Order: sequence, then structure tokens, then C-alpha cells
Amino acid sequence: MADYTIKVRRFQPESGEGPYWEEFNVDLDPSLSVLDGLLQAKDRDDGSLAVRCSCRAAICGSCGMKINGQSGLGCKTQIGEAQELADKQASAAGKGGEGNSIVIEPMGNMPVIKDLITDMESTHWTKIRRVTPWLLPHGEPPEREYVVEPESMIDITQSMACIQCGACVSSCLSMEADHEFIGPAALAKAYRFVGDPRDVEARERLYDLAQDPHGIYDCTHCFSCIDACPKGVAPMDQIMRLRRKAGEEGIEDPNSGHDHEIAFVKIIEKKGTLDESLLLQESFAPGFKGKLKPNKRAIREMLGSIPTAIRGIKTGKMRSLHKLIPGVHPKLPDQDDVKAIYAHAEEHNEEFNLYIKGEEGELAEENVEKGIERSTDPDTAQEVKNG
Ligand code: SF4
Ligand code: SF4
Ligand code: FES
Repeated sequence: MADYTIKVRRFQPESGEGPYWEEFNVDLDPSLSVLDGLLQAKDRDDGSLAVRCSCRAAICGSCGMKINGQSGLGCKTQIGEAQELADKQASAAGKGGEGNSIVIEPMGNMPVIKDLITDMESTHWTKIRRVTPWLLPHGEPPEREYVVEPESMIDITQSMACIQCGACVSSCLSMEADHEFIGPAALAKAYRFVGDPRDVEARERLYDLAQDPHGIYDCTHCFSCIDACPKGVAPMDQIMRLRRKAGEEGIEDPNSGHDHEIAFVKIIEKKGTLDESLLLQESFAPGFKGKLKPNKRAIREMLGSIPTAIRGIKTGKMRSLHKLIPGVHPKLPDQDDVKAIYAHAEEHNEEFNLYIKGEEGELAEENVEKGIERSTDPDTAQEVKNG
């Protein structure tokens, strides 16, 4: 047993008061969970402490919360580990010491109903429904079940692991800026159906998500949802898969999100560095390296970006004026190395679904033939070619 102090952000709407912090002392084995700590405080100190939970085994998705500022599940986070993180954060902030309070807050990007209970309907479930979260097959249903090759389901296994806890939504930086962003959980769910061979509306789904200004191109690729997800769904990866498929389908989006991605890659391929002054131009007038295509939209976007550029200079992000001139960029020492890495990546362009674990059937036999031993470590992901 060890003693811990948990500092909980509370909100009791019936009191008419605003949110406030309250500390509770709990004693638990370090291997028990933060949720166990909260339930002990509720049991011993204050029965009005509101927390949502059910399975206590990282299955039901009820106990999403922020622990030391990180979104996750209360029942999957060991209190001993939460203590270590609290101490590490205090040390990084120059406060040092041990036994710092473990800070527990309701999930972000959602209205708080009471204490740690958030309204998941308005921000999570509404968005899940937005992506038509059911299969849209073609024709009459078969007499028995739909039969698909197991291999064709590998691609979507990862997105199917979602338990709808909302931790990714809570941590999403784009959602903080744009509450209408469809968001990581719903877009991961969308991929679950886009990638399903039985669904015949994949193109329509992709078109819809690309045309929506709060859709797939609203994600800023910040990795936050990957860190937060307790089930390894990696929502950002699913969003990137949606984008890739939309690009392959030739779907254009009103914000030139796809062209923007292509521009990123193209500039790094050619120059070995990101020449940001070329980025905007290439995003809106692709194909004209060093010259602005006389296209009304491209010119409008370039002019519209001037205030952003000025802000960049003022804040120091854009340090020198020549960085604003397309095609003029100081030579950096490692540009050729970056180009070489790019060329290597292009040559070995295969996507692997690292979510699938263990070995089964033919693959295991093949590996035995090749002399590759079967891994007994459940955490060692097996690479499965993902097309
Ligand atoms: S990677 Fe995209 S979806 Fe995930 S948290 Fe960041 S902005 Fe949100
Ligand atoms: S993707 Fe992960 S974090 Fe997001 S709702 Fe599903 S399980 Fe939770
Ligand atoms: S209580 Fe079910 S996931 Fe935590």
C-alpha cells in the first residue's frame, strides 16, 4: 500500500458555483488504478464525487478522463505510474520533490455535466452518427452471413478495436480550434466502413468526408490521438488512410488539402527541405515549380496569406524575409541526406498494419520455413502486409 493525493477538478451544477479543485488522500497498491483511487475517495470521503465507470477493465469505454493532463482511461492507468508522471512533470517545471498531487480532470473538448462526467452525446456520438456508422452493402442480403476473405479484414481490424471512450476526442488539438471538426474517433469509424470490402459506398463516403471543410483535411497530424488511445486504434493513421484513398480516387477537396499534401512531399523530394514559401503556391497551383500559375484562386490565396506571413515574421516563426520568396531558400547541410531518405522510402513503399499480433496459419508456416521463430511476446506486433 502507498499513500497518494489525487487532485480532482470538480463541478457540481446544482450548487450554482463554478468548477473548483479538491484534494483527496487515498491509500492503494501502486498497481491499482486511478479509477480505484477515485472510487475509494468517493466511498470514504465524499459520495457526491461523480465519475462514470462500469467494467473497470478497459473494455466499456466509460471512464475517459484526463490524468496529469493526458487523456486516457482511469481504469487502465495505474496509480503508481500516474504518481511517477506527476513527479516527473513537477520536476520538469522546477518544483521537484516526490508525492506531488495526481491531477484528474474531466475529458477535454466536451461540456462537463458533473465532476468527471462529460456530455459525450454532443461532441462524440453526434459525430459518430455523422459518418453513417453502418455497412452499406449492395443488393439483396445473402441468405446466410456475408462471406469475406479474412485477409481483406486485416486492414480494418485496428479501427474495429475502438471502444468509443472519447479519449482521442478529448486530446484532439484541431477540435480545440474547430469544434465542428468531425474528429479522430468518428473518422476512425469512417475508415472501418471505407475499408470494408462489403461496403459499396466507399467512394461516396470519401467524397463526403473530403468535401466537408471539417472533414479529413481538418486534422493537423499532431499525433495526440495516437498517444491518447488506450486500444491502439491510432485514429490519425486511419485519417491518413482515408486521405490516401480519397487521393487515389482523384477526389478534390475545396481546401486543396490533397494538393497541399502532395506539395509537401514534392517540395521535400526535390529540395530535401520544406521551402514554406513554395508550399502555398504549390498547394493551390500545383505543377508550376518556382512560378505562380496565373490562376485566380492561387493568387487570391497568396494574397490572403500575407497577414499570416506578417504574423510569422512578428512572432519569429518566419525569421527572414527571403523565406517569403518562392524558390529562394538557404542551402542546408543535410538536404542531400533528406533526399536520399526520401528516395529510399519511395523504393520501399509498402504499408504494414502493425496492429495485428501473433502468427496464424500460412504466415506462421512460411516463417517457420524461412527459419523465423514465432514470437511469444504478446506486445511484439507482427508485420502483416496491408496492400
Ligand atoms: S492527429 Fe488529427 S485527429 Fe488526431 S488529435 Fe491531432 S488533429 Fe486531432
Ligand atoms: S479511437 Fe481509441 S481513444 Fe478514440 S474513442 Fe476509440 S478507443 Fe477511445
Ligand atoms: S470502466 Fe470500463 S473502460 Fe474503464
